[in-house]
Amino acid sequence: MSELSELLSRNFAWAEKIKSRTPNFFKNLSKRHKPKYLWIGCSDSRTAPDRLLDLPSEEIFVHRNIANMVHSDDASCMSVIQYAVDHLRVDHIVVCGHSCCGGVRAVLEDQTSGPIDQWLRPLSVLKTSISERLQQASVDERSLALTELNVVKQVTNVCGSTTVKTAWEQGKKLSVHGWLFDIRTGILRDLLGEINSAEMAASIHKQYF
Ligand code: CO
Repeated sequence: MSELSELLSRNFAWAEKIKSRTPNFFKNLSKRHKPKYLWIGCSDSRTAPDRLLDLPSEEIFVHRNIANMVHSDDASCMSVIQYAVDHLRVDHIVVCGHSCCGGVRAVLEDQTSGPIDQWLRPLSVLKTSISERLQQASVDERSLALTELNVVKQVTNVCGSTTVKTAWEQGKKLSVHGWLFDIRTGILRDLLGEINSAEMAASIHKQYF
């Protein structure tokens, strides 16, 4: 059996197991898509949100890319935010970075090339400010500092998106959060608290950049 045939067999066994416990599970799943959270995270396979939050995957709407970036000209990410806020009506958007991030490390070590180099260019700008501040720090310390600053930057980009600005102008209940997942411990850390207005977002931007 090839590796991928094995995956299909695993899927079949999984569906059968769920149906044997809850006969209407898939029927009900197909009728409702109402996640409360939008998760913007890194593609790193160790950071799947449903696993680390211990939540059923249908409760989290997910967008992931290398180093959890939010570019205002990225139609994919902007569409996800628009759909999550305007149609799914999520209450919370979480941007989550993580320790041991290959994208962050590549930028720190000047080892990016091709499309990844273009994708991570905003991180190179942040790296300059980190490098000045942390000249004596170890690579791990600088990597974590850059990861944290990147989360804050991407949170401010989410807050600056047309969708989120409009939602706040219309008085919708919507909070944006910046978290950090430490792969070495399995623990999530809240970096910024709850941001639920343009004024709060502006104050965070002023404080950090
Ligand atoms: Co990563």
